[in-house]
Amino acid sequence: MSPQPQAAVGAPLSRVEGRLKVTGKAPYAAEHDIKGVVHAVIVDASIGRGRITSIDTRDALAQPGMLAVIHHGNAPKLPYKDNPASNNPPGGRRLRVFQDDKVLFHGQPIAVVVATTLEAAQHGASLVKVAYDAQKPSTDLTKAKADKPTKYARGDAAAALRSAPVRIDATYQMARNHHNAMEPHATIAHWSGNNLTVWDKTQWVVGTQTELSTVFGLPADSVRVISPYVGGAFGSGLRCWPHTIIAALAARETRRPVKLVLKRKQQYFNTGFRPSYEYRLKLGSNRQGRLTAMAHEMDAETSSYETFTESILMPGQMLYSTPNVCQAYRTVPLDVNTPLYMRGPGFATASFVIESAMDELAAKLGIDPIELRRRNEPSEDESKNLPFSTRRLRECYTTGARQFGWDQRRAKPRSRREGDWLIGMGMAAGVYDTARMPAQARIRLNADGTAVVDAAASDMGPGTYTSQTQVAADALGLTMRTVTFRLGDSLFPPTPPHGGSMTMASVGSAVLDGCNQVRRQAIKLAVEDRQSPLYGVDAEDIVVRGGRLHTKDNPARGETYKSLLTRNRRSHLEADGAYAGPAAKERHSFYAYNATFAEVAVDATLGLVRVRRMLGVYDAGRIISPKLAESQAIGGITGGIGTALLEHTVTDHRDGRIVNANLADYLVPVNADVPDIQAIYLDGEDREADPLGVKGLGEVVHVGVAPAIANAVFNATGHRVRQLPITAEALL
Ligand code: MOS
Repeated sequence: MSPQPQAAVGAPLSRVEGRLKVTGKAPYAAEHDIKGVVHAVIVDASIGRGRITSIDTRDALAQPGMLAVIHHGNAPKLPYKDNPASNNPPGGRRLRVFQDDKVLFHGQPIAVVVATTLEAAQHGASLVKVAYDAQKPSTDLTKAKADKPTKYARGDAAAALRSAPVRIDATYQMARNHHNAMEPHATIAHWSGNNLTVWDKTQWVVGTQTELSTVFGLPADSVRVISPYVGGAFGSGLRCWPHTIIAALAARETRRPVKLVLKRKQQYFNTGFRPSYEYRLKLGSNRQGRLTAMAHEMDAETSSYETFTESILMPGQMLYSTPNVCQAYRTVPLDVNTPLYMRGPGFATASFVIESAMDELAAKLGIDPIELRRRNEPSEDESKNLPFSTRRLRECYTTGARQFGWDQRRAKPRSRREGDWLIGMGMAAGVYDTARMPAQARIRLNADGTAVVDAAASDMGPGTYTSQTQVAADALGLTMRTVTFRLGDSLFPPTPPHGGSMTMASVGSAVLDGCNQVRRQAIKLAVEDRQSPLYGVDAEDIVVRGGRLHTKDNPARGETYKSLLTRNRRSHLEADGAYAGPAAKERHSFYAYNATFAEVAVDATLGLVRVRRMLGVYDAGRIISPKLAESQAIGGITGGIGTALLEHTVTDHRDGRIVNANLADYLVPVNADVPDIQAIYLDGEDREADPLGVKGLGEVVHVGVAPAIANAVFNATGHRVRQLPITAEALL
């Protein structure tokens, strides 16, 4: 096939659904207008661990409009079959709602009140009286017993550390972060006989479908999950949480469609979070800054009932060339709900530690931080003994240093001052796995020259609607306006979770495949049709542009899809596109990279940190949608500013209660906290990764932001803060 002209891909287009969103016409989970819907409100456990001894629902049920109060005392037993096709952690057992009297964490859903109005349900929930047999919960990561570690080793790190002329040994602590997307988690559930339809906030309609079907013991095709718009998620929608099960259960018990919207406070214990960590890292180096050893020990919180793990080990194994590496990763079960992936999961946390320690080493050796990193740049992935598909970190450093004005940085900390403000610059490297998974898409080209592309998928904000339309438009030879991409419905062809930065590579490759098939069908139809001006032309010589097929060399010779299909009495052409995922045994190591730069000002007397400007330079493969890619970088960096300086879920260890479960006390960056942000994507593609040449960019833009800021704070003040978030107190 002749390569198609690329008109939409690479163009800085605005979101195709932008108008719907800014005019409020894009329905989010709770906004679908379902006839006869009633309202559910969850009652949260007010102890951190123990047993429910009684639930008194009489006052609640006496209220007008009350339909049901469901709890462990009256709920039906649910099958809760295993669901391996999910993001449920493989270790442990998921929380089974209302199946027993146990309380496993503060805020656990222990009952649901269903009423005809939201107000009645809320009032009813406040009247449910619960008595407990309470125990003291264990919620402090630093005081609880850890599970057996997961280990990795190459060489002999202990011996290499003993003989290293220069050593760093530091322990870092990262606070728990909550996703806190704008849109609250919400579900509307509607049964029709044994068929369940839910409108849900989810990043994975297929995963929510399998979870509902396994929990209720239904065939998967009896459950339909609809989620066309998601108002941010950052990972919190990668799993089907108990509240979605509760909504479905409440709808089944009351025989009414039920809407359940989590309150902001309830998001803090009904959905996941980025786990807190305590992470000790030892570096050994020679006097020239060449690493000889790295030893990583990390403890991460998980729940008492599930063992959540994430990709925290990979950066330590492949980011820098080191012959001797050892790692021990221990989960610590606590009386909390189960964590989940949050933007740049694992990598962002590991990166804070490794990149802070590298900055400490650079300072100790008196070597420029970029130069230190260059000296440790590996020539292959030393954890897999595989070549990198592409690794352009050196270019990221060079471009970033030039663009940011790195030569203005003073090597000696606390040597630049403007009035009350100490000014500093820092940088960090970032890396994220190029994940890909099998995906499918269905393409239909209509006789009027329009096309519809369907894939289950999701668009929590990165711009999937737009970027997939770009891929389809070019492959079909149509304009953006004549292609409609639909997503967020489990009836559409299945796709992997919308997370781990894999949607463009996975879904995009399936869309590309299906559109190529349809274009081929049309070309075949034309060259075999005696009435077509393209009759007898070699199919290889035909391209399609603006809905018109023509020969490559003579654009005048051709015809439109519309005339071709109409004359041949074809209402449409159709194909199922597929992407099989990466090869079982890969011959390359696939990662996206960045160099992130920060300039901060720190008030010398108050310890306030202000980020002044940030720059990210990315090696993320081919960029399908430059405007949206830039938007992703702004979002990822903004999230990184939050992790670095503001975000901190605080637990009262006396009773396991989260004390700042609201957006007034849990701080996220607002516009005044977000400085001038610049993003540069290196021009290029990764031909080995996937048919589109993309590497994924949603996570890598976030990884490296927090350490770049921490390193800038050190450069400004001379204080090395090893705890996130970096607070004013830590700087005084
Ligand atoms: Mo992202 S944490 O993979 O939604």
